[in-house]
Amino acid sequence: MNANNSTLRAAITGLGVYLPEKRLTNQELEQMLDTSAEWIVQRTGICERRIAAPKETTFTMALEASRQALTVANLSAAKVDLIICATLTPEHPFPSTASLLQHALGATRAAGFDLEAACAGFIYALSVARAYIISGMAENILVIGSETMSRVVDWEDRSTCILFGDGAGAAVVRAVRGPAEVGGAIESVVLANDGSKASALIIPGGGSHSPTTEETVRQRLHFIQMNGSEVFKAAVRGMSDACLLAAERADLKLSELDLMVAHQANARIIEAVQRRLGLPDYKVYQNLQRYGNTSAASVPIALYDAQQEGRLRSGMRVAIAGFGGGFSCGAAIIRWG
Ligand code: UT7
Repeated sequence: MNANNSTLRAAITGLGVYLPEKRLTNQELEQMLDTSAEWIVQRTGICERRIAAPKETTFTMALEASRQALTVANLSAAKVDLIICATLTPEHPFPSTASLLQHALGATRAAGFDLEAACAGFIYALSVARAYIISGMAENILVIGSETMSRVVDWEDRSTCILFGDGAGAAVVRAVRGPAEVGGAIESVVLANDGSKASALIIPGGGSHSPTTEETVRQRLHFIQMNGSEVFKAAVRGMSDACLLAAERADLKLSELDLMVAHQANARIIEAVQRRLGLPDYKVYQNLQRYGNTSAASVPIALYDAQQEGRLRSGMRVAIAGFGGGFSCGAAIIRWG
């Protein structure tokens, strides 16, 4: 980066998370489905996932994560200009989950909208926040990934329901000046889409194509359908290519990268990306064993945990990457402030 001290940058200044208390283990899934704990852990790396209680929703989880992120960033809700909630499981089709958050947080001057880019949603939302800040349209933005996946997975489909979990992660993104080494920066972002593969990972029912009827319910069209091996291959290729391009745009050699926090979908996907990028184990973070795939929430939850565990520290340069339905894909290089 050739940024000087007066260059306006967008930096993450606080993170928050919310995870439901209820854990669903692989052993419990064994009792519910024709599966084995051993198969799940060997093929995915996931040991357990969190499941929202009846009163927990995408909005309530996002609210808790947002409050924590604002506290950590030492920012009052009244100073937030924009709220972007990345989710494929919004509170309602409309109004947006972001508008409910705006009111509940007391973010009196904030605009807000939901952003749907499936499991890559947090990276997409971060790219919007960065663009708003660099263009001078906003100073303080709340970016959230929140998902209640347990309400859209087909609990009769063993190839998908074992993968997903519920949770929320939030990041405060602020306009900062001065050296990136001190204040941090989202240095580069890369986004991509391949709509030709839309049917490989989809909830077919409930939209304008197949509005809810008794027939769509009978056909279980309101649940996730996935071609696992097609998604797997595209996720490996997509996230590694996006990381390479994001590093190039940030003028960063991969050998200088300190940490990679990829979407937590499957340990074998992350390991394959790691091999393609030639990264040693200690530069790759995984927490999917605890939470499974929380879709748009997975990257901010993983960033939070990595920071709590001392794996993500001030001054480090971290690559984040996401991949999901669409196929949507994204990566960013962040200098941690
Ligand atoms: O966030 C982005 C969204 N999703 C992903 O990134 C997920 C991407 N895909 C994957 O993670 C993997 O493809 C899966 C974990 C879903 C599946 O792993 P796989 O190694 O690709 O297995 P497979 O789909 O090739 O299936 C292998 C076998 C099949 O049996 P047959 O046809 O070989 O007899 C499946 O029926 O494993 C069977 N199988 C299971 N067996 C026990 C599928 N699910 C299960 C299960 N328990 N839960």
